[in-house]
Amino acid sequence: MPFIVAIDGPSGTGKGTVTSYLAKKLKLMYLDTGATYRCVTLKLLNEKVDLKDEEKIKEILKNIKIDFEKDKVLLDGEDVTLEIRKEPVNSNVSQVSHILEVRKAMVNLQRKMSEGKDVILEGRDIGTNVFPNADVKIYLDASVDERVERRLKQNQEKGIKCTEKEVRENIEFRDNNDKTSKIGPLRQAEDAVYVDTTDLTIKEVENKLYKLIKSKKRDNKWIERGYITTKDTWCKRLRKAIIKGFLASLYHIFYRIEINGLENLEQDEGFIICANHLNYLDAAAIVLLNKKNIRFVAKSDLYRIPIVSYLGHTFDIIPVKRGKNDLASIKICLKALKNKEILGIFPEGTRKGLAKNVKVKNGAVFLAEKAGVKIVPAGIGGTFKLFTKIKINYGEAIDIKAYQSDDPAWIDKASEEVMNKIVELSKK
Ligand code: DC
Repeated sequence: MPFIVAIDGPSGTGKGTVTSYLAKKLKLMYLDTGATYRCVTLKLLNEKVDLKDEEKIKEILKNIKIDFEKDKVLLDGEDVTLEIRKEPVNSNVSQVSHILEVRKAMVNLQRKMSEGKDVILEGRDIGTNVFPNADVKIYLDASVDERVERRLKQNQEKGIKCTEKEVRENIEFRDNNDKTSKIGPLRQAEDAVYVDTTDLTIKEVENKLYKLIKSKKRDNKWIERGYITTKDTWCKRLRKAIIKGFLASLYHIFYRIEINGLENLEQDEGFIICANHLNYLDAAAIVLLNKKNIRFVAKSDLYRIPIVSYLGHTFDIIPVKRGKNDLASIKICLKALKNKEILGIFPEGTRKGLAKNVKVKNGAVFLAEKAGVKIVPAGIGGTFKLFTKIKINYGEAIDIKAYQSDDPAWIDKASEEVMNKIVELSKK
């Protein structure tokens, strides 16, 4: 699986320096997306294109060739590394980058350049638009004063002449343009880590981000292993039986257990158990407190933790990445159901989802339809406080074929119906 790091933020936050350092240190391909907009700007200026002439811009975009070679930026084969950092590109790039056709073409190009690679991209809309599913998202920020000071110093070092007033005006103008643009505006992705670099040295920022990305990379490695179902050897079966027996007896010591409707788990085909989700212990209760082999579908993050990963492999827990269309997970689920196995899914998606008024997820009904299997609803009641009663009521299998129709919304309706049944069972 390619590993994608998105670094966004306004200009002057040290993005370029930090990203280039991280790319080398972490062996990631470095993509400076700002440079792609700068190349287009240079080409449009060179060809004296009116920035309102959409047709001409489209034509230019069709034929433009932008490449990165080591530390060089090539525009139509020509080295423009220095030229794109100077006037008149500086004063025009913001406007050009917010032309719809330009943005579409550059986003496509950036995605294409990154295809199948471990990559770190810096820009304005990477985490929000180019790669909304990036593995790591970082939003770098700094006060305007600090950014002006840094840019002045940088320009001095490069021998570029400018006054403080010019730099400040340019930064403020670009900030405003980038943040208020209707097309690809600069904003922090909800799941991005915010790093204020105002009082940090570049080295400190580099170290902080290095640690963050490194730990995410390690987590990902563990998570990816979760997608490999280990072989069902006698050794694994024995290990599973011992752990299951031990944990089940702990359950019986610490809780008073009542289970009803176990006969509903006697099916000739594979099926899906859908239950309400109160607590981390409820999935365990469903897996441990019966004689069946039940494979729970759980958030992939669980596999980050080595001991949980061990248990996950023992009980063949199927990982799923939240908020993403996790095809690998869907494939494992379908294969298991076709293999007549039993899956456990919480349609609330999250713990106490019902209480939090979260929309019922339709993944279980989707899988049931694709695999042609039934859904057994399970209602779990109890507080899970020690020495209290826990009740699990399994209901009759639901054949979701009864809900199928030409209306694509049938799947949501069927999911709601399954959830209603679960709620009813949890109150019995
Ligand atoms: O990072 P930079 O200063 O080289 O970016 C140049 C311009 O391109 C800047 O005004 C913002 C714009 N840009 C963008 O809109 N989206 C990106 N992903 C990267 C840059």
